[in-house]
Amino acid sequence: MSVIKKFRITKIKNSKPLISLKKISLSFKKNHLILDNISLDISKGQVIGLLGPNGAGKSSMMNLITGALKPNFGDIMINSENITNYPIFTRTKKFKISFVPQIGGFFSDLTAEDNLNAIGEILIKDVKQRKLKIEELITKFELDAVRKVEAKFLSGGMKRRLVISMSLLGNPEILLMDEPLAALDPQTIQMLQSIIIRLQSEYNLTILITDHQARDLLVVCDRAVILSNSKIVAEGTPNQLMQNENAAKYYFGENFKFK
Ligand SMILES: Nc1ncnc2c1ncn2[C@@H]1O[C@H](COP(=O)(O)OP(=O)(O)OP(=O)(O)O)[C@@H](O)[C@H]1O
Ligand SMILES: [Mg+2]
Repeated sequence: MSVIKKFRITKIKNSKPLISLKKISLSFKKNHLILDNISLDISKGQVIGLLGPNGAGKSSMMNLITGALKPNFGDIMINSENITNYPIFTRTKKFKISFVPQIGGFFSDLTAEDNLNAIGEILIKDVKQRKLKIEELITKFELDAVRKVEAKFLSGGMKRRLVISMSLLGNPEILLMDEPLAALDPQTIQMLQSIIIRLQSEYNLTILITDHQARDLLVVCDRAVILSNSKIVAEGTPNQLMQNENAAKYYFGENFKFK
């Protein structure tokens, strides 16, 4: 059974964007722009997909929001506050940002349970609440059978589930997920899609998510953006993107179908 998203938040009346990228440019080498004058608004409670070919700058865009990277030009706003010069920990704490990185994100030599404990001890001071939260996540992400297994011995999919569960320990308000669906089996993808939809509907989480499993990604998105050649070349609801010539030209190809 496929996961169904019942409604999509396409326009939010009278609301200022929660996250705003304003005329962002990023380059690592002289004369080679990774992102060229990119502007993007994300409303609170929206799930936004970020698509684009390998090397388009998707992970870099997430790193600009976490603070791991600084833009060469432009500003990053959260709740109308200019955070461009804030360090990572200030952004994380003040705006409750959590990040699922494309690679890694766990301690290899710790068991699944101790990975959750390690981050939980930083984020949840009350021992009873911490234990409850960790048990809730172990159940939700079906990690019980591997709780005593060192993370380095987990399968690729289990590692992803562990990292995603860790990202929810601090009850984030903004969740950045970099390829969370990569290398997951179909049932795990459906489990994650349901979790993402529930995080949005029950906790009003704002989620920016990138993945090359475009069909699976679009199922959960309200809106998606396609990055290519340093620019946003298309954006809109999943259905709008299916009609968008640039979306086909720069990313999906001619035969891609969303449903
Ligand atoms: N720290 C860095 N130093 C130099 N170049 C970098 C750095 N980080 C990223 N790049 C380059 O910037 C470009 C964009 O990389 P990025 O990882 O953001 O792409 P992506 O869209 O996430 O790709 P993928 O789909 O493969 O994950 C690539 O050409 C990459 O080599
Ligand atoms: Mg990437």
